[in-house]
Amino acid sequence: MSPRSPLRNAALVCNVAIWLLILICREGRLVKAQSTVSYKGWNCRKHSAFVTEYGAKGDGKTLNTKAFESAIQNLSKFAADGGAQLIVPPGKWLTGSISLISHFTLYLHKDAVLLASQDQKDFPMLTPLPSYGKGSDAPAGRYQSLIFGTNLTDVVVTGANGTLDGQGEPWWTKYRAKQINESRPNLIEFVYSNQVQISDITLLNSPNWNVHPTYCKDVIISGLTILAPTHSANTDGIDPDSCTNVKIENNYIVSGDDCIAIKSGLDEYGITFNMPTTNVIIRNLTCFSPTSATIALGSEMSGGISNVRAEDITAINTESAVRIKSSAGRGAFVKDIYVRRVTMKTMKYVFWMTGYYSSHADTGFDPKALPAIDNINYRDMTAENVTMPGYLEGIAGDTYKGICMSNVTIGLASVPNKMLWNCTNVEGVTSRVTPQPCALLKEDAKVTDCKFPEDKLPIDQVVLKVCAAPVLA
Ligand SMILES: *[C@@H]1O[C@H](CO)[C@@H](O)[C@H](O)[C@H]1NC(C)=O
Ligand SMILES: *[C@@H]1O[C@H](CO)[C@@H](O)[C@H](O)[C@H]1NC(C)=O
Ligand SMILES: *[C@@H]1O[C@H](CO)[C@@H](O)[C@H](O)[C@H]1NC(C)=O
Ligand SMILES: *[C@@H]1O[C@H](CO)[C@@H](O)[C@H](O)[C@H]1NC(C)=O
Ligand SMILES: *[C@@H]1O[C@H](CO)[C@@H](O)[C@H](O)[C@H]1NC(C)=O
Ligand SMILES: *[C@@H]1O[C@H](CO)[C@@H](O)[C@H](O)[C@H]1NC(C)=O
Ligand SMILES: *[C@@H]1O[C@H](CO)[C@@H](O)[C@H](O)[C@H]1NC(C)=O
Ligand SMILES: *[C@@H]1O[C@H](CO)[C@@H](O)[C@H](O)[C@H]1NC(C)=O
Repeated sequence: MSPRSPLRNAALVCNVAIWLLILICREGRLVKAQSTVSYKGWNCRKHSAFVTEYGAKGDGKTLNTKAFESAIQNLSKFAADGGAQLIVPPGKWLTGSISLISHFTLYLHKDAVLLASQDQKDFPMLTPLPSYGKGSDAPAGRYQSLIFGTNLTDVVVTGANGTLDGQGEPWWTKYRAKQINESRPNLIEFVYSNQVQISDITLLNSPNWNVHPTYCKDVIISGLTILAPTHSANTDGIDPDSCTNVKIENNYIVSGDDCIAIKSGLDEYGITFNMPTTNVIIRNLTCFSPTSATIALGSEMSGGISNVRAEDITAINTESAVRIKSSAGRGAFVKDIYVRRVTMKTMKYVFWMTGYYSSHADTGFDPKALPAIDNINYRDMTAENVTMPGYLEGIAGDTYKGICMSNVTIGLASVPNKMLWNCTNVEGVTSRVTPQPCALLKEDAKVTDCKFPEDKLPIDQVVLKVCAAPVLA
């Protein structure tokens, strides 16, 4: 049959007609689909409710804590029946701390803002975490976070870039004036939980740390915009703490403290609790933090930190890049750390390691408990406008070892530090690093590139599902 035969033409017309039908049909569904929006979730939920069904008012004034509580209480019966999602529609929803449940999604619409109450009474008091023996600010209790969960499985906090606004200013002021005796609340904290997803929302003005997964396994944190004034007190971005299998991807953070701080408990409490943070991926992070690190490892690391892989990192106007902070008394280890493809502009330090970080839980720490720092790899980094390329300080009698740096080009500030590299009690090798590193990190012709593992961690293989959230008409 020739391509121009009438039969062939008829088949073509028919094909086009069927396509049109499908399109119309799809269009029909599309119109209907306007009553839902799609989002990515580790699991989708069978049941949905709007927080307004429980009396919540998005006027920015009504306190909605009880409405959230009764909604979540009512939805808890679906945990074993496909789970439930609670939808927060557009509006300003004032609330105190909210405790989430298992097999549950909190979904914030694009123009939904959860406004944290500024009344301390709206945040229950918790005892200190066992791996710390104290709160982050104070020896006594700690206020429960705005979004909280403990002993959960399968919990999601997400949205179409909806907002949690911590309204933290009064907390920062009171903390600095020493007017509170307990630790300020975080914005989001999950403790002893598995399968945790926090994604696609904006976090503003946290009273304290922003996101704090603690004693958790299988954690995905992605698509967050975290903003706090760079002068605000301890507004760390994301702090995985004694967690296993963590992926932190596509986040943009401006903060008054470390953009990311990997932790695992403090001194004798962390050593006894003995739960490391391990198998961590940090990818595509943008950080602005003039007084702190892009990624800090420690200083609380007494359960150990291992197998951290950080790549595609941009730091601008930030104090340091990937900083190790520890001291005698911490014990444990920071080992198998891999960093590549870091672009930096306006930095005080590129490389910073600290062996004499002064803070301790109390006077009960064991000065003979020395941290083991080993196998720390950095490659493919460029920096501009740097005051001091490297300040590397290990501990006397406890050398920070196995340091490797390759293909690193550092441009200096117009008035750099007199001493460009200051290295004590460290040991390692370098290759193609400029300006020339200190004598303890000699150029080694045998080194081509420092290590970066090529295998994919299990948390990197999780594929999120496409879920639907209803929209109010
Ligand atoms: C709670 O759930 C029950 C059904 O299990 C429903 O009848 C009731 O209306 C719900 N409460 C509210 C406030 O929606
Ligand atoms: C949560 O889990 C931890 C560790 O398994 C356990 O010690 C604690 O009692 C649990 N807490 C609650 C409230 O169930
Ligand atoms: C989310 O909102 C923040 C704050 O308004 C904005 O900076 C950011 O670009 C938004 N992100 C997305 C993906 O829309
Ligand atoms: C903090 O504790 C001290 C000593 O117990 C007490 O005098 C003070 O009133 C407390 N401050 C607040 C704000 O509770
Ligand atoms: C990196 O993260 C930003 C958000 O900070 C996002 O806009 C961008 O698409 C991400 N890039 C890639 C390659 O995923
Ligand atoms: C270099 O860094 C200094 C602060 O150390 C800053 O004031 C200056 O604007 C930066 N210059 C450029 C070209 O970014
Ligand atoms: C060196 O690092 C830069 C990024 O800073 C990268 O673009 C380049 O490909 C690297 N060179 C080699 C030989 O790996
Ligand atoms: C180099 O670092 C060591 C250890 O922190 C410090 O004691 C010393 O003063 C530094 N040297 C200079 C010249 O800054």
